[in-house]
Amino acid sequence: MYKTRIIGTGSSTPEKVLTNKDLEAMVDTTEEWIITRTGIKERRIASDGETVSTFAYRAALNALDMAGVAPNELDIIIVGTITPDMPTPSVACILQNKLKATHAWAFDVSAGCTGFLYSLAIADNCIKAGSCKKALVVGTELLSKITDYQDRTTCILFGDGAGAVVVSREKGERGILSTHLYSDGSCADLLYMPGGGSACPASHESIAKRMHYLKMDGNKVFKIAVKSLEEAALTALRHNNLKGEDIDLLISHQANIRIIQAIAKRLDLPPEKVFMNIEKYGNTSSASIPIALDEANRQHRIKKNDLILLDAFGAGFTWGSALIRW
Ligand code: UT7
Repeated sequence: MYKTRIIGTGSSTPEKVLTNKDLEAMVDTTEEWIITRTGIKERRIASDGETVSTFAYRAALNALDMAGVAPNELDIIIVGTITPDMPTPSVACILQNKLKATHAWAFDVSAGCTGFLYSLAIADNCIKAGSCKKALVVGTELLSKITDYQDRTTCILFGDGAGAVVVSREKGERGILSTHLYSDGSCADLLYMPGGGSACPASHESIAKRMHYLKMDGNKVFKIAVKSLEEAALTALRHNNLKGEDIDLLISHQANIRIIQAIAKRLDLPPEKVFMNIEKYGNTSSASIPIALDEANRQHRIKKNDLILLDAFGAGFTWGSALIRW
């Protein structure tokens, strides 16, 4: 019996911190509102000259180092991102070149905040199909570049960073037990960025209309996110004949502390079984789960044979879960 096992984790976030107090000076908001409504205290923001591949590269090196895998042993590099360095080439190809991962084929996945889970599931399926043995899976974002710092309903939420895992085909029962992925394009206009694609390329008009920033109907997204995350988590449990009490650690997309608490309540999980770092980083989209996974791993919150549930929701809409026997 072979499984896809995570053998190394890594992450990297910018040095620069944007606090709630800083935001108070930028838009009509208060520190108290942000903390009570979101759980976010601060977020990391890239400095000039730093790109999404800067952090992807550092996170990848950390994950490869922990895994004891050399870049030229990688068969595939998959990067979940909605904020690539440029429309083409992909961040994955930029990363392949930086790492000198000469044997890897590489591509990006655009699936909003579910980008890392989608990428992990693709890597798992490639390994199961026998088309690769080792893959690097990354979630990386510079959301600060597409955040409107005049819009108080979104700018308080987002941050920058990257997380990565190395997965390997390994003998035994430990590894990815299941992945469940979903999408619903009918809700696209609740969370989207209208400008910058081929439908609306950059122009003086598109810039004047602030079309190159994320737009979100936060309250509607919130309600659908809770429902979808619950559904994906419960499906993972049912599929594996497990109950909430069997889970050792829930690592959910870090979008809002109230969303994570609602999922934890639905699964009947006590606080010590729920990993949270939203207070430090805010919502980093596809980077949020791999950054949290790496922090949980390095803080020894995860032990061998633990059952780890990953759960994500994002633009598209996209959502899904992955259950892992560590
Ligand atoms: O990562 C992908 C998926 N994204 C998410 O899952 C995000 C989901 N949404 C959320 O996290 C929450 O909906 C928000 C944090 C964005 C907003 O919280 P909410 O509890 O849903 O607030 P709301 O949108 O219902 O707004 C309540 C009030 C409004 O004022 P009125 O109309 O009641 O007078 C807003 O204008 O809060 C106001 N408001 C703010 N007040 C102070 C909105 N943003 C702010 C702000 N500071 N930054």
